Amino acid sequence: MAVEYSNVKQGLSVAGGHSGIIISIFSTSSGNGKTITAINLAAFLAKEGYEVCLMDLDLQFGDVCDYLKLTPKYTLAEAQKDFESDPEEFNAKNYLTQYTHEDLSFSVMAPPKSIDDAYRIDVSAVEKIIEQLAGFDFIILDLQAVFSSLNLAMLDISAIINYVGIIDFLPSVKNFKVGYDTLIRFEYESNKIRLIENRSNSQKLIRGEDVERLIGERFSHKLPNDFQSVNKSVNAGVPLMFAAPNSPLTKSFEELADSYLQPQENSSTHIEAAEEQPNRSILSKFMGMLGW
Ligand SMILES: Nc1ncnc2c1ncn2[C@@H]1O[C@H](COP(=O)(O)OP(=O)(O)OP(=O)(O)O)[C@@H](O)[C@H]1O
Ligand SMILES: [Mg+2]
Repeated sequence: MAVEYSNVKQGLSVAGGHSGIIISIFSTSSGNGKTITAINLAAFLAKEGYEVCLMDLDLQFGDVCDYLKLTPKYTLAEAQKDFESDPEEFNAKNYLTQYTHEDLSFSVMAPPKSIDDAYRIDVSAVEKIIEQLAGFDFIILDLQAVFSSLNLAMLDISAIINYVGIIDFLPSVKNFKVGYDTLIRFEYESNKIRLIENRSNSQKLIRGEDVERLIGERFSHKLPNDFQSVNKSVNAGVPLMFAAPNSPLTKSFEELADSYLQPQENSSTHIEAAEEQPNRSILSKFMGMLGW
């Protein structure tokens, strides 16, 4: 392991009452790569020898089990039902599904199988279930792209919020900015929010630097574009380390996982609003239109 686990925990503001490190993956648009990120983070942290639980909290349309070809016997819905009927006897670990491939193994909490059951999921029950999973070193939360009461509760207990965006389209930039401003307005510490640009090297008219200036923060990590490898991984039901070990995207996920295992530096990612650029970019014109 890269660094003593206790040192890793010390560097992160682990929420009170939780002994495992909770890492959430969040975005304000769907299809931004949250599930791919969550699975590959879980895989690399497990490969380092940590006990990892990946929770699919995209309750209605979660993809973790499809991407990993898992057929769960129990889901969060059964966990909640049994917790509510007998909290004393309840053991959250009994509702997990184990993902195993070669020598890699981590646990998955599957989302409810029906939309009706998803609708019945209660925030306080999920909090209690996660408290029982505190024995895991890392609990990775794959969230839905929405500001819901469940997501806010999950972001509260997270030590790190990975806020993922694909910056290829003006409406997604707008959603990214509105989402970031909302996180700050809800008083999540900016040092717990990590901005991640996905598909960062894909061809696009909007430059990452312009988005950083708009947000006032730098991306702390950039994931390259590699549709072929992601496709191979999803089709085979295995994390990228098996489907495409040499892909720059796989390496990038490994670096992202490693970044949690290093002592946290206090290097600021904050940037001041820049002076007006001589050649106004598409984005700055758009910002002008929105009065930003
Ligand atoms: N870095 C990448 N390179 C190429 N394709 C990618 C990359 N990241 C994601 N994708 C593509 O985007 C699709 C959506 O990714 P993913 O399911 O992880 O997004 P999501 O944010 O979880 O979406 P949703 O909000 O619908 O749950 C993937 O199936 C893949 O085809
Ligand atoms: Mg998803």
